[in-house]
Amino acid sequence: MAESMLSLDDVKVHFGGVRAVDGISIALEPGKLYGIVGPNGSGKTTLINAISRLVPLTDGTITFDGTVVSRMRPFQVSREGLARTFQAVRLLPTLTVRDNVRVAVDRMRDGDGGRRGRWRRTPAERNRAENATDVALERLHLTQLAGEYPENLPFGTQRRVEIARAIANRPKLLLLDEPIAGMNREERTEIAEIMKSLRDDGLTQLLIEHDLRIVLSACDHIFVMNFGKCVADGPPRETAARPEVQEAYLGRKHDGGA
Ligand SMILES: Nc1ncnc2c1ncn2[C@@H]1O[C@H](COP(=O)(O)OP(=O)(O)O)[C@@H](O)[C@H]1O
Ligand SMILES: [Mg+2]
Repeated sequence: MAESMLSLDDVKVHFGGVRAVDGISIALEPGKLYGIVGPNGSGKTTLINAISRLVPLTDGTITFDGTVVSRMRPFQVSREGLARTFQAVRLLPTLTVRDNVRVAVDRMRDGDGGRRGRWRRTPAERNRAENATDVALERLHLTQLAGEYPENLPFGTQRRVEIARAIANRPKLLLLDEPIAGMNREERTEIAEIMKSLRDDGLTQLLIEHDLRIVLSACDHIFVMNFGKCVADGPPRETAARPEVQEAYLGRKHDGGA
């Protein structure tokens, strides 16, 4: 049996009576691009929050690259090699594009270095951080914009800065919560191409996305959620065509991608 990059065993996240995630068991193989689709409120964001340890599990087990992470804190699971982006862009307005990415590398080093002070890195460490920043900017086509401030950039470009920040520490798994929502067609296509190229370099990704066109063309495998459960999974086109999936989409109001 191939070793999973991530496996969820009967994961539940309940908020009082709300069963946001209600018994999800899935496994991700390394080096693939996975999609999660499903109507608004079906538990997609909560699932990613559970994996990145932002919400406590009500039940179940999450294993990430051989390590049980179900009870870890967010910084611990990120130290294990898990990175994510959020539904809303979160950039530091007073820092340049480059420094927004660079501080993420620094922050990782803090978690890594235990007692070592934030600014007391060896020259070799500083060099590594600079290189990691350059590589991430390059991968997201941001090298020319490194000196700009986020507020002067279009939304789609800000989103790319966020993804650059997430990959700067060379994570093993990247979770993306609606990375192309609110973007124009050109920006969507560019981000989808970037995700595919990261996948081709071996980065495992789990993407929440409403734009089925993008999901169908970019993902290797999709999971369909409805009412906190995974109601179908498999190859994108074939899975999207199944009756229970059509039902999940047509039976409830479709989320516009907010
Ligand atoms: N922190 C929370 N407290 C209470 N209910 C929540 C919380 N987060 C999400 N929910 C509820 O859980 C359900 C799933 O939400 P969410 O995971 O955001 O869905 P999706 O991302 O698929 O739109 C919704 O009913 C939502 O209102
Ligand atoms: Mg959501």
